[in-house]
Amino acid sequence: MDYVQVSEILSDGKKFLGSQVKVAGWVRTARDSKTMAFLALNDGSSLKHLQIVVNKAEFDQAALAACLKNGVSVEAEGTVVVAMNDENGFELNALSLALLGDCPSDYPLQKKHHSLEFLRTVPHLRVRTNTFNAMLRVRSKLSFALHRFFQENGYTYIHTPIITGSDCEGAGEIFRVTTKNYADAKTAQDEAEYIATDFFRRKAGLTVSGQLEGEVAAMAMGKIYTFGPTFRAENSNTPRHAAEFWQIEPEVAFAKLPDIIKIAESMIKYVIKALLDECPEEIAFFEKAFENGLREKLEKVVSSDFAVLDYTDAVEILKKAGDRFSYPVEWGLDLQTEHERYITEEVMGKPVFVINYPKKIKSFYMKQNDDGKTVAATDLLVPGVGEIIGCSERESDLDKLMAAMTERGMNLDDYKGYMELRKYGTVPHSGFGLGLERILMYVTGIGNIRDVQLYSRTSGDLMA
Ligand code: 4AD
Ligand code: MG
Repeated sequence: MDYVQVSEILSDGKKFLGSQVKVAGWVRTARDSKTMAFLALNDGSSLKHLQIVVNKAEFDQAALAACLKNGVSVEAEGTVVVAMNDENGFELNALSLALLGDCPSDYPLQKKHHSLEFLRTVPHLRVRTNTFNAMLRVRSKLSFALHRFFQENGYTYIHTPIITGSDCEGAGEIFRVTTKNYADAKTAQDEAEYIATDFFRRKAGLTVSGQLEGEVAAMAMGKIYTFGPTFRAENSNTPRHAAEFWQIEPEVAFAKLPDIIKIAESMIKYVIKALLDECPEEIAFFEKAFENGLREKLEKVVSSDFAVLDYTDAVEILKKAGDRFSYPVEWGLDLQTEHERYITEEVMGKPVFVINYPKKIKSFYMKQNDDGKTVAATDLLVPGVGEIIGCSERESDLDKLMAAMTERGMNLDDYKGYMELRKYGTVPHSGFGLGLERILMYVTGIGNIRDVQLYSRTSGDLMA
């Protein structure tokens, strides 16, 4: 396979000027005139298409006509020349053109613009639009930049299990893993009997977070991160919740809350800077199609400090905002998206770490503050999306941890190893989880999580 990628020709055309290259891809649009034909070829390497110029007299007319259709796949060989209409651009003067795969007229992507809702009905084809092309490239660059950030800073990448017996977030929103079928479930006398004969002989599910195992690794390796799929069976049908999403979760031994906040802020700045440098065309595209001022917003994130706001102060600010919210505001209640967005968009106008949440609304593993009411936890809120990071210092005192678990009615036997981390050489440590799709929404301006995944999984919809 000796094809040259379209991106290479368009960005480094001088290198190819006058020489013969072979390209392959899908025809986005075709124009036909009396003597000439023009194909816009996209191979997924760039948002821009490569124009293939065909001098019709040199081609078999029937074979050529078969290539002049939306969506067909073709292979073309030709000479790289300076573009007719753009002296800084390049195009290909075709010497040969071959149809690889036909595309009949019922091809669903006939229009230039399709709504995101419509595209969700054709997930196997929506990848061929500029939006998904750009989104997937940004997703890839973002993922790699995240790896780079942690690798350059001395973290070890850990693969934590996908199947697990514990519920990290303690919210019970777990997809069960079982090899049994409905008939077994119906005839079982009780749950214990059912589980005793199931594959693992105990309750198993898909992980909601790699944190608990990440802490195990950090208690030996110091600085680690996980990066993988996580699953939540929450029934919330919102534009920000997916049943399957990717999380990056660093865990850092000897770090306290202010330390981990610094790490989170420098990580966000690092990856956004990487996108500004590596994906200028994609960002320009998203700015035009989804969010005015996107580039400037991202540049500002890189160059200015994030805000830090105590939960208690946030509640005061929200109360002063009057009755503009649909959900109640009261110390002790969780912040809803509308509250988060008000604070980050209208009050701060930038990313903000809300710190020291009431312990009752947060997870069992969070370090209890001396006031007895709050925990050393923070959520990073950003304009347009709300929460993108959930973060905390972990409770490193065994007695306090056990008390928090008992209060929540948790089964301590399921967390024996986790508790022993506090018995054998416990240290202060902290970590966070960044939702990959959430930050993708933030950097692209795409408003629905269903449109930043190849296939989305949400309650009631296993996109297929
Ligand atoms: O705030 P969460 O639930 O925190 C944890 O899971 C911790 N164990 C992380 C840690 O400390 N290692 O989730 C972390 C992040 C959220 O801030 C959000 O960005 C994302 O994961 N997230 C979701 N993204 C898409 N769909 C969902 N249903 C999500 N739930 C959480
Ligand atoms: Mg959270």
